[in-house]
Amino acid sequence: MDEAIKKLHHDFIDQLSHIKSLSQIESIRIDYLGRQGKINGLFKKINEVPVNQRKIYGQNLNVLKKDVSRLIEDKLKELAESEEKERYVDTTLPGKKYQKGSLHPLTLAIEEVSSIFEKIGFIRVSYPEVEWEHFSFEALNMPKGHPARDDFETFFIDQAEDDKYGKVVLSPHTSSGQTREMHRVKTPPIKMINIAKCYRPNWDVSHAPMFFQFEGLCIDKGINITHLKGTIDYFVKEFYGQERQSRLRPFHFQFTEPSFEVDISCSLCHGKGEIKKQKCRMCKSGWLELGGAGMVHPNVLKAGGIDHQEYTGWAFGWGVERVFMMKENLNIEDMRILYSGDIRFLEQF
Ligand code: DAH
Repeated sequence: MDEAIKKLHHDFIDQLSHIKSLSQIESIRIDYLGRQGKINGLFKKINEVPVNQRKIYGQNLNVLKKDVSRLIEDKLKELAESEEKERYVDTTLPGKKYQKGSLHPLTLAIEEVSSIFEKIGFIRVSYPEVEWEHFSFEALNMPKGHPARDDFETFFIDQAEDDKYGKVVLSPHTSSGQTREMHRVKTPPIKMINIAKCYRPNWDVSHAPMFFQFEGLCIDKGINITHLKGTIDYFVKEFYGQERQSRLRPFHFQFTEPSFEVDISCSLCHGKGEIKKQKCRMCKSGWLELGGAGMVHPNVLKAGGIDHQEYTGWAFGWGVERVFMMKENLNIEDMRILYSGDIRFLEQF
């Protein structure tokens, strides 16, 4: 009778190995473990076994029954797992689109600005973001207590003051690089493009506490306003397009004399301020403000160790965010979205 048990075990293993789906497994279970099944069939034959072998026969059948149940459970699990996997491999589904990284639009703008200036011989430099008050103000003709300093609200670093250079600040503008560059080069010509992070404690729809500026500085013998205007025109046409124009509007900055605000003609109305007798919705006046510029003040040249009798120079300092948004004709309600890391915004550039 032992042979019958072994055969049943063998047959079961063989049949189980051919099973490929959850639905098939139920029939093999009934076939072996059901009330009318093969294992119970052998239990019923116990009467035919010699009395002295019945105990061992019964034990062997119980082992077989347990083994069959365990193997069926294992098979069930295995099939359930692979069917689960198969459900995900639906070859008719459209492919998954993985998000691709790209350079931030401001990084692209910075690269473009620096390459435009590098083409005409300007050297890209970078100066400390954590800066002395001296280079941010005094060296730029804004002595302590001067009201012009109020325009540059500043983050101060909690560190001992230096007798010569004053307090430590987060650089509020790239102009702080002007006299640093003069000290570095010592003898003009100087053609600097300084693009850097700047910091001011402002937080609203048009200000972020950290932002970017780019500062141009050109010093040599005989440099005058026409060089400034020519360079601005070159930049405006390279960056915004050949049809765009620039103009200088008188203004005041402590570190330049004379000083200007630079405007560029609006891309929608081409400087007219109106389209079909309607006020242009983008600029209202025909012009858009780019930022400040001017002829370097003699006191700034002096602070940079440059002979102001012999040399003259011009400078400008503009916000990268502003210049970029004007290029893209972006009417952003809240410029802080530039720093939000929101992929839906960023992937448009
Ligand atoms: N530093 C000024 C600011 O942050 C911008 C500026 C104006 C820079 C005129 C210049 C300049 O170099 O000539 O608002």
